Amino acid sequence: MKRSLGATTIAHPVPVWVIGTYDIQGKPNVSTVAWGGICCSRPPCVAISLRKATYSHGNIVERKAFTVNVPSEKYVKEADYFGTVSGRDADKLSKSGLTSAKSELVDAPYVKEFPLVLECKLLHTIEIGLHTEFIGEIMDVKADEGVLGKDGLIDVEKLRPVIFAPDSAGYYGVGKNIGKAFSIGKR
Ligand SMILES: Cc1cc2nc3c(=O)[nH]c(=O)nc-3n(C[C@H](O)[C@H](O)[C@H](O)COP(=O)(O)O)c2cc1C
Repeated sequence: MKRSLGATTIAHPVPVWVIGTYDIQGKPNVSTVAWGGICCSRPPCVAISLRKATYSHGNIVERKAFTVNVPSEKYVKEADYFGTVSGRDADKLSKSGLTSAKSELVDAPYVKEFPLVLECKLLHTIEIGLHTEFIGEIMDVKADEGVLGKDGLIDVEKLRPVIFAPDSAGYYGVGKNIGKAFSIGKR
């Protein structure tokens, strides 16, 4: 027997991503989103949703670019901080002790200490309601050598991304590998 939880935004899990942008003066800003996901394979695209009230929203409209930075578990506190204070009121990066570098491909900064970054050019802007969905074309993905396996692919157990439960507001790590896609179902 299933219980109705109402018309709400519960889909488990959602990611914890840190969006890097420059403001109009060129100051780097970082902000956390959970409303996001890959949304197209060709061209490779990612969608993130931001409220107009956020500083990052105006930055993306202005600069037409953003980065998606994937924190590892050890940076969960910084990711939470980036989602609780606005770049209008604080220089979050310098307060956190983390550092940014300018993307060479898009007009946005990325977080040097985070192991995985997607550099995105704004492709579409969709007004949905409270949130605006920004679809970014992924110009490159950069990963620290330390999160790559011998095969050169990302090893999720090394990356240790953070996932989020939107209803309980809990942060979680990911579990063990339980199978190979496009393969396990054939057996
Ligand atoms: C785990 C977490 C997830 C969040 N997800 C979103 C989101 O998807 N969209 C959004 O507009 N705000 C989200 N927020 C809130 C923003 O990160 C927050 O309002 C932040 O202060 C905005 O920063 P800015 O004004 O510097 O852009 C989230 C916060 C946390 C802690």
